[in-house]
Amino acid sequence: LHLTIPRDAGALAVGADEVAAALQVAAMARGLELTVTRTGSRGLYWLEPLVEVVTEAGRIGYGPVTPDDAEGLIEALAGDGAHRLRVGRPEDLPFLKRQTRLTMARTGIVDPRSFEDYQAHGGLEGLRKAIEIGPAAIVEAVTQSGLRGRGGAGFPTGIKWKTVADAKADRKYIVCNADEGDSGTFADRMLMEGDPFCLIEGMAIAGIATGATKGFVYIRSEYPHAVAAMEAAMTAARRGGMLGRAVLGSAHAFDMEVRVGAGAYVCGEETSLLQSLEGKRGTVRAKPPLPAHKGLFARPTVINNVLSLATVPIVLARGAAFYRDFGMGRSRGTMPIQLAGNIRYGGLAEVAFGVTLGELVDDIGGGTLSGRPVRAVQVGGPLGAYFPRALFDTPFDYESFAARDGLIGHGGIVVFDDTVDMKRQARFAMEFCSIESCGKCTPCRIGAIRGAETIDKIIAGQDVARNIAVVEDLCQTMKFGSLCALGGFTPYPVLSAIRHFPEDFDVTPHRVAAE
Ligand code: NAI
Ligand code: SF4
Repeated sequence: LHLTIPRDAGALAVGADEVAAALQVAAMARGLELTVTRTGSRGLYWLEPLVEVVTEAGRIGYGPVTPDDAEGLIEALAGDGAHRLRVGRPEDLPFLKRQTRLTMARTGIVDPRSFEDYQAHGGLEGLRKAIEIGPAAIVEAVTQSGLRGRGGAGFPTGIKWKTVADAKADRKYIVCNADEGDSGTFADRMLMEGDPFCLIEGMAIAGIATGATKGFVYIRSEYPHAVAAMEAAMTAARRGGMLGRAVLGSAHAFDMEVRVGAGAYVCGEETSLLQSLEGKRGTVRAKPPLPAHKGLFARPTVINNVLSLATVPIVLARGAAFYRDFGMGRSRGTMPIQLAGNIRYGGLAEVAFGVTLGELVDDIGGGTLSGRPVRAVQVGGPLGAYFPRALFDTPFDYESFAARDGLIGHGGIVVFDDTVDMKRQARFAMEFCSIESCGKCTPCRIGAIRGAETIDKIIAGQDVARNIAVVEDLCQTMKFGSLCALGGFTPYPVLSAIRHFPEDFDVTPHRVAAE
C-alpha cells in the first residue's frame, strides 16, 4: 500500500504528522506493508490532511483525515477503498479541474526531498534548454513569454533580466524575494515546501541568463518549513550537479544560499530586503539606482518573487509561445491565486489571467464558509483595495484591476461576509501601516498614525463628514508622497472602503449631495 500525505505547513497545522503516524500504526496492526511519501499540498486546504492512495488508476484522495479515522481508512484501503472521506481523484474535483497548473504543476504531486522524483516529473528540462540556447536567447524567451513580476508590481521579467545581463560588473546576483508578507497569501510558501527544486532551477536559469553566479533566497522567519525544504533541496541539487561550478556539466557556475528574515513586513520591499541581506537594518533605499543597476553589495541584481522565478523553467521547457498563449491583454500566462478568509473552499487556484473575480470567489471558492452573503473581498494583500459585489465582473488582470483603483498584488484574495464593518477594516489598514512602517519618510511614518486616530473619531461618530475628508486628504499625501509601496498603497484599502461601502462610515446626506 502506497500513500501520499502532505508535509507542508498548512497540512502540518491540521495534524498531517499525527495522521501519518496513526496510519502507520493501523497498517502495522493489520500486517499491511505501508509506504508513505510526504509531498507538498495541492492547495485544497479544506480537505487537509488529504491522504492519497497510489493506484493504477491514479491517486485517490481521502480527506480531511484525522488520526481517529486511521484504522477505518486502512481497513477500507485493504478492501474496495470505499470510505465516507473518499473524494475520488483530486484532479476530478471541480476546484482542481477548473485550474491551469503551470507554475504549481508539481506542487502536491512530487516528493519535495527527491531530486529523482523532480526529474521524473519534467524537472530540469527548462535548465537544459537554457544551457543549450545561451544567455541572450533565454532573456528573449522570458521577454517573449510576457511573464511579469508575480510579487505584485507586474514589471516585465525579461526586461529586468536584460538590464542586469547588459550591466558590466565584476559580480552580479540573483535574489529571490520569499518574504511573503501579504495577508491571505501562501503560494510562495507552498511552492518552496512542495517543489523547491523548481525555484532552484529558475534561479539557476536567471544566473545563466544574466551572468550571475550567486543567488540568495530571502525567506521570512515565519516559514521554517520552507527554509528546511529549500536547504535540503539545495544540498541534493549540489550533489546532483544542478548547482556548483559547472551547472549540469556546462561552462556556467551558479550556487545559492538561504537567508532568513527577522519578521519585518517592509523587508518584502526590494531595497529593504537588500539592506537586510547586507546585514543592515531593513529600511527602504531611494530608487534610482534600481537594483538591476546597483543592488546587492552595489552590484547589478535581479530581484524576483518566488513565483516569477519558479515560472521560468516551464517557459523555457515549453517555449515562450506556449506560456503567452494563456491569459488576456498584457497579463500573459497563469497566476497562482490564493483564496482565503471567510471562504468555503480556501486554497490555491492557479488559473489563466482573465477569469473574473466573481468566478474566483463564487464558483471556484464556493462563497463564504459562514454561508452568509459575500460582502467584500480584499485583493492583493493588506495594501490592496476592497472590492464589493458590484465589481465582481472585474477580470483578474493587472490593468483591469488598476483601472478600478485596485491591484492584484501577489494574488491573494481575502473574503468577508456581510458582518464585516468596513470602517474597522479601513482603520486596520492604517494601523498595519503604522506598525510596519520603516519610518524613513514622513507621509507613512506619521500619516498612518494620524490616519488611525482620525478613523477612530469616525468610529466614535465625531464630526464624521469632516473627518472622512481629512482621511481622504491624508490618503492623497500618503499615495503621492511616500517613498515605497507600504505608505503609498495603504490608501487603497482605506479609500476603497470609504468609496464602496459609504453606509459603514455613516456618511451624512449633506456630504453625499456635495459630491
Ligand atoms: P516597482 O514598480 O517600483 O518595481 C517593480 C520591479 O521592477 C522592481 O523590482 C524594480 O526594481 C523593477 N524595475 C522598475 N523599473 C525598472 C527598469 N527600468 N529596469 C529594470 N527593472 C526595473 O514596485 P515595487 O515597489 O518593487 O513593488 C510594489 C508592489 O509590491 C505592489 O504592487 C504590491 O502589490 C507588491 N507587494 C507585494 C507583497 C508580497 O508579499 N508579495 C507585499 C507588499 C507589496
Ligand atoms: Fe518606510 Fe513607509 Fe516610507 Fe516605505 S513608505 S520608506 S515603509 S516610511
